Amino acid sequence: MTASELKSTYLSFFKSKGHAIIKSASLLPENDPTVLFTTAGMHPLVPYLMGEKHPMGNRLADVQKCIRTQDIDDVGDNSHTTFFEMLGNWSLGDYFKEDAIRFSHEFLTSKEWLGIDPKKLAVTVFAGDADAPFDDEAKRVWLSLGIPEHKIAPLPKSDNWWGPAGLTGPCGPDTEMFYWLGDGYPPESSNPGNDKKNWMEIWNDVFMQYNKNADGTFTPLAQKNVDTGLGVERVACLLQGKKSVYDTELFQPIIREIERLSGASYSDTSKQTSFRVIADHLRAATFILGDDRGLTPSNVDAGYILRRYIRRSVRHGRLLGINEPFCQVIASCIIDIMQMDWPELLAHKAFILDELNKEEERFSNTLAQGLKEFEKLVNGLEIAFQKSGKRITVISGKNAFKLYDTYGFPLEMTEELAKERGLTVDTAEFKTAYEKHQELSRQGADAKFKGGLIDHSEETTRLHTATHLLHKALKIVLGDHANQKGSNITAERLRFDFTHGAKMSEDEVKRVEQIVNEQIARGLDVVMQEMSFDEAKAANATGLFESKYGERVKVFTIGDFSKEICGGPHVKNTRELVGFKIQKEESSSAGVRRIRAVLTPAAPK
Ligand code: SER
Repeated sequence: MTASELKSTYLSFFKSKGHAIIKSASLLPENDPTVLFTTAGMHPLVPYLMGEKHPMGNRLADVQKCIRTQDIDDVGDNSHTTFFEMLGNWSLGDYFKEDAIRFSHEFLTSKEWLGIDPKKLAVTVFAGDADAPFDDEAKRVWLSLGIPEHKIAPLPKSDNWWGPAGLTGPCGPDTEMFYWLGDGYPPESSNPGNDKKNWMEIWNDVFMQYNKNADGTFTPLAQKNVDTGLGVERVACLLQGKKSVYDTELFQPIIREIERLSGASYSDTSKQTSFRVIADHLRAATFILGDDRGLTPSNVDAGYILRRYIRRSVRHGRLLGINEPFCQVIASCIIDIMQMDWPELLAHKAFILDELNKEEERFSNTLAQGLKEFEKLVNGLEIAFQKSGKRITVISGKNAFKLYDTYGFPLEMTEELAKERGLTVDTAEFKTAYEKHQELSRQGADAKFKGGLIDHSEETTRLHTATHLLHKALKIVLGDHANQKGSNITAERLRFDFTHGAKMSEDEVKRVEQIVNEQIARGLDVVMQEMSFDEAKAANATGLFESKYGERVKVFTIGDFSKEICGGPHVKNTRELVGFKIQKEESSSAGVRRIRAVLTPAAPK
């Protein structure tokens, strides 16, 4: 069974059990400042796990794109990837432990569905501690389904507790399902508690019944939920009888492409990690860039992780002997594999390839020099050792910062290089150097904005409408990739951030301004309609499609010019705006431009 077939089989199964199928949310969480990426299918559902009503009902299932940055160091083994697709089913205060476990068991083992041999399965359950008791109930359900006692391992919170996805939020004990990786059948005594390396976790049923509070305490949730997560790559791997997720059709074409570009062989075990790092990281980068909420490489937050993925891939490409730009080629291959299930990749293909190429180019220019600099540092430590007889095994934070600042080496890359030489990096000193640099670069730049609260005054209302006109005009002049990245409106001006890879020319700025002024002069009516999300999408409204589903949204239509999902407020007719002027076009962060504009008391002549 292919990964794609697995996904549709899973959704059919849960549909047959009364679940509504919902869309994957964006990889970039909209409302949770405590995490950089969506880490699990439950993440976008947090409000509903906390008790809010979901418009699609209380049984849901989906395929969610996820990134777990904390797994980056495990990439190279058989089963870890930083980007993965997660199948999930949820009960929002509906069924609980017994049904959740029965569904999982039936889907995995029934001949009608996956038909996995139950003798190759084992499970774990929560052993209990001061916060919550031993999960006796989960154990009893497994026993009743024929899983023998010695294949049910009770484990502590570090293994059998899930959540919250961020620092606070819904969480609870879980029961996890594992598949036997060895040959034949597992010995009777072996289970994931005592023989971890021979078992691969494939599915996690979480019984969300607590909320973790900011002070670290747990309180029972008003509503008991089920949150499950099944890894597509891993289950495809076992269904295909492969030893590693990288041996499935999700990765093999990428690996073949890397072989072709490098001349190196994937079967050379000394090179396998580099192959897997490139395949995994560029998959993650392709999905981040291809997200409707698209992001570009930068030095902060998620943009920094994206940068790390790309730069680490480039370095591992060099290790395999690829000296030409290659990220675009690999990303095209990834898009070919995934586009059927994730059409947004195709929609954003030009942007993905362009951004990858730019980042690769930026880094290629400094990588070789930076590596030379690194060699100098290592030699310096050796010379110092010969002189003093005292061996220093730490690269100073100042030097690591120089590699970062001058040569664009992410700190983690310097740490990786250091580790390969048996050295470490003084990360505390790096941070001090970094913070000092931040202070210096902040001086003089007044990044703070006043206002911020939603304000329905006449001025801000007019600027809200102007923002929609501007957004559309940018798309006309620059192209459809000019997506909103941020918007901030005060009574005096609007500020609009959008994805675009280059400074706008004077002519482009003028044309945008002119288009907006034309729409104002045309006196277009602004009409608000409430509709379902799918209707908004069908009507071609601009909006963050990946991050919302099911619910009813407000769509503002401005004559025949613009249609956008938005909470408002807006004017009744564009004539109320009178005149529009762009004051400034500047960089906001890498790949993101920022426009400041005002409304003028008179129309332009
Ligand atoms: N949230 C759980 C996990 O990610 C189950 O979906 O494992």
